[in-house]
Amino acid sequence: MKYEDLLELAKNRRSIRRFKPDPIPNEYIDKIIEVAHWAPSGFNQQPWEFVVIKKPELKKQISDYCKEQLLLGHKMNAAIDPTLKVPDSIHAMETEGGNFSVAPVFILLLGDHRSIQLMPSSHQYGTEYLNNTFNAGLTCSFLYMQLAATTLGLASQWLSAVQAPYVSFMVKELLGIPKYLNIYDMMALGFPAAQPKPRTIRNVVKMLHHDYCGPGAFRSDADVLEYIQQTRGVVEP
Ligand SMILES: Cc1cc2nc3c(=O)[nH]c(=O)nc-3n(C[C@H](O)[C@H](O)[C@H](O)COP(=O)(O)O)c2cc1C
Repeated sequence: MKYEDLLELAKNRRSIRRFKPDPIPNEYIDKIIEVAHWAPSGFNQQPWEFVVIKKPELKKQISDYCKEQLLLGHKMNAAIDPTLKVPDSIHAMETEGGNFSVAPVFILLLGDHRSIQLMPSSHQYGTEYLNNTFNAGLTCSFLYMQLAATTLGLASQWLSAVQAPYVSFMVKELLGIPKYLNIYDMMALGFPAAQPKPRTIRNVVKMLHHDYCGPGAFRSDADVLEYIQQTRGVVEP
């Protein structure tokens, strides 16, 4: 593989939040999981498990749990800033930023925490270190899934709402997932119904530092706030 091909893939990988309901070939799902299971992980523990969800009634229930959580987020924001609009119901959430619930496939990425807890050498590392390493491996695998989806011309979206305690608990109950498995994140997958808008990307020159670099080399609070405003809208300082 050439560097240029990798760069092209990195640039083309996008979050696409508008899906066609059309089914995707099973072969595509197999290919995505095949790539994901080659991801690097801390201590080579490969703590991942993949759950492919296609049954409409399960997808609907999971979507509703996610939307309930997202609606709570809107309410929390409105508590800080009452001028913000809160959708009337979870059904109104459908038009907010995308339509993930119509995607034909959800892939739930689970992490098996026993893979680090039961390691004989785990006492050498603090809990934070172990958890960071565990999650970093899962992130790698999730990213590999998204890269694979890109090469297959599919739209994919991370849905971190599944990590919220309420959603995670309800989804695990719904699917019979045992307690010792953590829900890391969920991917909605399907053929794209829209192309994403161009994204804001920080200037690489400004984030590259060499050798000794004091605080003056990095962004000020104002710089960080300005970037958050560009990407997320108005923020409270
Ligand atoms: C760890 C992580 C969690 C994310 N969670 C969500 C999410 O819950 N919902 C969503 O729509 N996008 C989510 N995203 C996608 C980001 O919003 C997206 O990557 C970012 O805005 C840049 O856009 P791009 O993916 O098109 O380059 C997540 C991305 C990462 C890496």
